[in-house]
Amino acid sequence: MLSIKHVLTGKQFSAESQLELFRNADALRNGNLIIKSLESQRVLLIFGEPSTRTRLSFEIAVKRLGGDAIIIDNLEEKLSVAKDEGLEDTVKTCAALGIRIIAIRHREKGLPALLAKISDRYRLGISIINAGDGNHEHPTQALLDVYTVWRERRKELENGELVVAYLGDIKDSRVAHSGKSVFSAFGVKVITPPSCLKAADQIDVWNLLRFQKERKKIQDIESAKREYYQKYTLTEEVRRKAKSDALFLHSRPRGPELPAETDEDPRQRYIINFRFSDPWQNQETNGLYLRMAILIKILEGEK
Ligand code: CP
Repeated sequence: MLSIKHVLTGKQFSAESQLELFRNADALRNGNLIIKSLESQRVLLIFGEPSTRTRLSFEIAVKRLGGDAIIIDNLEEKLSVAKDEGLEDTVKTCAALGIRIIAIRHREKGLPALLAKISDRYRLGISIINAGDGNHEHPTQALLDVYTVWRERRKELENGELVVAYLGDIKDSRVAHSGKSVFSAFGVKVITPPSCLKAADQIDVWNLLRFQKERKKIQDIESAKREYYQKYTLTEEVRRKAKSDALFLHSRPRGPELPAETDEDPRQRYIINFRFSDPWQNQETNGLYLRMAILIKILEGEK
């Protein structure tokens, strides 16, 4: 049985442990799990970089589980870290105030792991969730991506029979870094083709990536973007070549690589579309249940 102390990297999740989370996420969705698991538990959400999906879904997940969500939008400015208070003192204060879980997004690679180390060293009992650290990892996004695939291509995923592609800015994509680990745990082939067109007819699961402009230190950003969109746009031609049962995923926010007309393509699973037979089968809705399942599993671990 899976036990989760912290969620720091995609590498910590075996296929078996992911399957347990996916089954629990489905049970939550179907109303078959008791959902007061976070009653009287405090969860601190620190989002030092912009976020729509991760932040909202964690906040809603905590509230639906009966917990208290406390939201801070910047570690350095809004907490006393701004007055030179050390991280150790900050984490100890959180423990003293009954905070049980911290989900943190931060531009600094490794900060969630550092907070986890502090919590463990002083036996503070706070679990840390990495909600995206710089260009390093974003494990809960990667897990919800696999969950989205598992809900439709279960057998092939579990038998390692899919070809999963990450297309775009792999170097700076924390989604791709975590995603490669969690998909690979199932033995599926994970590829990173040099353009969308190159491997279109082989790919079962498309993970399109945005151009991470905030991570670039190049002068001519506009020409880098132009080159990027030439290679990685999901054009009509690419969609025509793609398999009829392929799945198009994108962690978003989107850029021109994902034209609006793709939203009507029945193979897309990145955004809700009420013209689809199951509009709720999309990464964002799935992310809510998956994050609820993670929060429950963390609390179960302490019993
Ligand atoms: N996928 C993702 O992390 O989106 P947000 O940046 O909106 O949270």
